[in-house]
Amino acid sequence: MKGIILAGGKGTRLYPLTQFISKQLLPVYEKPMIYYPLSTLMLGGIRNITIISTPHDLPQYRKLLGDGKKWGLTLSYHQQNKPRGLSDAFIVCKEFIGKDDVSLILGDNIFYGNMRLEEIYQNFNGGALIFGYPVQDPKRYGIIEFDDEGKVIGLEEKPKEPKSKYAIPGLYLYDNRVVEFAESLTPSARGELEITDLNREYLKRGELKVQILGRGIAWLDTGTAESLQDASVFIQSIEKRQSYKIGCPEEIALRMGYIDTDQFLSLVEEMPDCEYNNYLMGIDIELEYAGGKQQMGIRGLQP
Ligand code: TTP
Repeated sequence: MKGIILAGGKGTRLYPLTQFISKQLLPVYEKPMIYYPLSTLMLGGIRNITIISTPHDLPQYRKLLGDGKKWGLTLSYHQQNKPRGLSDAFIVCKEFIGKDDVSLILGDNIFYGNMRLEEIYQNFNGGALIFGYPVQDPKRYGIIEFDDEGKVIGLEEKPKEPKSKYAIPGLYLYDNRVVEFAESLTPSARGELEITDLNREYLKRGELKVQILGRGIAWLDTGTAESLQDASVFIQSIEKRQSYKIGCPEEIALRMGYIDTDQFLSLVEEMPDCEYNNYLMGIDIELEYAGGKQQMGIRGLQP
């Protein structure tokens, strides 16, 4: 499974913040926004990831994240010349996807809580998998319609009269046919290749699965000034209370075994003396050797 982070777009709802800065580079509390979706993919066990952004902003993402080696990842970059919609990601990244399955995450979506993503990615066996998240204001989102037995029967984009309270968060898993399906879509009235239309292709074939996200999971999107502020406050509150950081790629790379302790320590040493680096230095690392296999025990971690 490969990963795509979609970090282009116009960011009109965040004007004037987004006049010169790409939305996904803006801070969510103490980290650039893109750290959070990147962390989500990393926690799911995905290490080959591409970042899509605009010709203007792509160089900044390259500068921030590099080739990913320092975090045990392979990162690449793709340019989206115009914001042609979420489904355009699969056309832009056709070569990158190759013959693999792929997971798309929106660069302005934050997930917190144990989603058992590694298990979900490992058990993925074709078709498409989306998530369902109960929200208070379903009119603002793509919504899933279920029949009496809980089977998905429809998808609606920002419905005036929503048929359920289950919104579709910006994390999707697709089999390799996604490229072909995306290429066959026609732009919607707003001129975009819609992700809802892509999901409908799978639904039509009876191959769209939905995983409901329960109470223990928080899903935040950061597209407006208010939701961006809410997300920062949320991250700050949890981090202050628990003393664990959320969306910290260095810690996740270590915990997932993508880098070893020496690599981790050299990363920490390269950082300036700051709160972030003090946190990383404070992680308890216990190395145990069991049957020749290196096991790492660091304090618990949440996405
Ligand atoms: P949106 O929030 O739907 O769009 P936007 O970021 O352009 O913001 P606004 O509506 O305020 O103008 O996009 C969701 C995510 O997908 C976001 O991270 C930007 C990204 N995106 C692209 O990279 N390319 C695209 O063509 C679109 C539509 C979005």
